[in-house]
Amino acid sequence: MEKIVSLCRRRGFVFPASEIYGGLGSSYDYGHYGVLLKENVKARWLEAMVRERDDIVALDSSIILNPRVWEASGHAGGFADPLVDCRICKQRFRADQLGESSCGRKPSKRPGETPDCDLTEPRQFNLMFETRVGPVEETGSKVFLRPETAQGIFINFKNVAQLARRKPPFGIAQIGKSFRNEITPGNFIFRTLEFEQMEMEFFVPPTEADDWYRYWIGERRDWYLRLGVRASHLRVRPHDSDELSHYSSATSDIEYLYPIGWSELEGIANRGDFDLTAHTEASGAKLEWVDSQSGERYTPHVIEPAAGVNRSMLAFLCDAYDEEVVAERERTVLRLHPLIAPVKAAVLPLIGRDTEMAERARRLYEELRRVASVEYDDNAQIGRRYRRQDEIGTPFALTIDEQTLADDTITIRDRDSLAQERISIARAREHLLDRLEQPWRSPKPD
Ligand code: GAP
Repeated sequence: MEKIVSLCRRRGFVFPASEIYGGLGSSYDYGHYGVLLKENVKARWLEAMVRERDDIVALDSSIILNPRVWEASGHAGGFADPLVDCRICKQRFRADQLGESSCGRKPSKRPGETPDCDLTEPRQFNLMFETRVGPVEETGSKVFLRPETAQGIFINFKNVAQLARRKPPFGIAQIGKSFRNEITPGNFIFRTLEFEQMEMEFFVPPTEADDWYRYWIGERRDWYLRLGVRASHLRVRPHDSDELSHYSSATSDIEYLYPIGWSELEGIANRGDFDLTAHTEASGAKLEWVDSQSGERYTPHVIEPAAGVNRSMLAFLCDAYDEEVVAERERTVLRLHPLIAPVKAAVLPLIGRDTEMAERARRLYEELRRVASVEYDDNAQIGRRYRRQDEIGTPFALTIDEQTLADDTITIRDRDSLAQERISIARAREHLLDRLEQPWRSPKPD
């Protein structure tokens, strides 16, 4: 994990938030390549979940909702972790994770491990951030930053079903920020105070719920595999009955083998009719399905694949990170699937000072940037420029050299195999788009 954190910092993917003020625990800022990578993860999700399907529509609901939403959903009462405080080191720990925590004293100890530790009894601590709406702080009404995007979907069920003219089985998908007052210091961007979720609520006739639950576990696992994550590093883990959330009758996590061990990447839950029933009772609005022809009415059951953008990005980065020795030099390379790589191609004049080469390269770059995320770089010796692109995961480098000036051909270098091919500059755009479309497998051993 240290190597990933250091690469992310060095190349400007991710860095600690409010760093000039000493930072803020479990908060990170995303730099240029981090933003591009994150946007690609979201685009691939939207493509698979909305664009390539007839039965799912998109939604963007508010972050701040009427606080009654959170009472009805069970979050106001039940979305809590059991916490203990240490009266000696003044740190706070999750009571259910004492075995994996370390306290503030040096050398670091497990909380409660020595007679010097003085832990309080566990107390429930709600994870929702509170704020107030209104001009006067004292009299304003208390509201919450949403801890999940899902509730914004449930409360819009009727609205969307009517507007989108869909009948169950159909889904509503949403990507957006969620906030949790997490006290366990995260492992880099694995667990943070604010994060983005990609959630989809799939509304189905109750008798079909089990089948759709299994279907979505398969679909979501395949999505990671299609984007190049190695099968040996993905597994599906069904929850034991004592792990299930208050709303769920069955949940399976898709787990990734992060450097911190197997951990949740995405959860797929069978939420039954819990949410639509709870909001119907609390709001009085009947969130049910009525078939206009047969008159049949029922409360749909819900299957929910809930993924984290940041956690997916971390899994892609961990899976892609590689080091190898080439011609007696070590290179670090991010073997990202071309479709999620932040930059698809770098356009490089072999000799940056050569005006003719630079001009040809610049022209090609301006043509390509209309269709893909590409970079122009004429700074430093070519080997260093290749290594820089390897580190940010750019799958292709297009080099303009002396021969280009003579015969209008350029080289295209493959990040993974390092193979170089000569192609005509006139075909560069078509060639790049073709290569980006081709299936890709990680060359890293499974
Ligand atoms: N609506 C269901 C739900 O929110 P969850 O398992 O609590 O379920 C879904 O969250 C996904 O959101 C997780 O699998 C994870 O990828 C991401 N996630 C949750 N809490 C997070 C945090 N504090 N930091 C980063 N990602 C988080």
